Amino acid sequence: ALVTTTEMFKKAYEGGYAIGAFNVNNMEIVQAITEAAGELKSPVILQVSAGARKYANATYLRKLVEAAVIENPDIPIALHLDHGADFDICKSCVDGGFTSVMIDASKYPFQENIEITKKVVEYAHAHGVVVEAELGKLAGIEDDVKVSAEDSSYTQPEEVEEFVDKTGVDSLAIAIGTSHGAFKFKPGTKPQLRFDILHEIEKKIPGFPIVLHGASSVPQEYVKIINEHGGALKDAIGVPEDQLREAARSAVCKINIDSDLRLGLTAGIRQVMSEHPDYFDPRQYLTVARQNVKDVVAHKIQDVLGSAGKA
Ligand code: G3H
Ligand code: 13P
Ligand code: ZN
Repeated sequence: ALVTTTEMFKKAYEGGYAIGAFNVNNMEIVQAITEAAGELKSPVILQVSAGARKYANATYLRKLVEAAVIENPDIPIALHLDHGADFDICKSCVDGGFTSVMIDASKYPFQENIEITKKVVEYAHAHGVVVEAELGKLAGIEDDVKVSAEDSSYTQPEEVEEFVDKTGVDSLAIAIGTSHGAFKFKPGTKPQLRFDILHEIEKKIPGFPIVLHGASSVPQEYVKIINEHGGALKDAIGVPEDQLREAARSAVCKINIDSDLRLGLTAGIRQVMSEHPDYFDPRQYLTVARQNVKDVVAHKIQDVLGSAGKA
């Protein structure tokens, strides 16, 4: 059924696991994610960015998700707006049947972030929709906003309690060293999330669900397939999965994954295309690409998030 994340997060917090939030842009991706979650009896969040709405059209995405809910009746599915830039896009998604929205006002000063978030919370809650907000800045690309490594900054634990109290928000995305995209860490450096900051935040707002953006692990087997079949992804590095496992056991209840799906999809298409130059039926390469995405999601649910069997 199509649900909010309230119950999912409560159980995930208590059970020491996390829910995967996967970005959707087309039918194959929606199918891959929900088939994997359905087979593994896992709750799942499907999230839609502004870029996804622009690419696929909000109505198509909404209807694809509705189809997935019908096809997978045994698992809770949440439909979430990823990185809502302002009140209007959040309102449009609340009105359009989303069960959860993110207002990302993290680029604004603290008090302004509170005001913008509060306004979204008031509207969303009045319509039975939950809200995620963000404190701190991740490096990388969030839709049209590119945050450079110098402009990124970790979430300040001293700010979280006031932010949560004043906004009434339902979950909080934090910056502890993750970033968006497939190039998260400098080659040769040791990727390390700031668990010390996460634990301080946990102590300030016990029981409150934390969200990790930019949490792709960038599977090297797919990077290799891409590069061996005409691709050029140099030094693509993600978050080590043992650190994601550790995060999932903590207050982190939602882990966002987009890049890993893109890599699986692209690897599948590139491999089939170069091994079968005679193919021109999209179903031939999209079947393999979709299976890769499904494999990625199944692996995350079983081996990283711990959400299998929690539906
Ligand atoms: O926040 C980043 C997500 O991966 C969505 O990416 O804005 O290119 O759809 P997008
Ligand atoms: P990745 O780029 O690490 O997959 O992060 C996705 C994300 O945070 C979407 O909001
Ligand atoms: Zn994000």
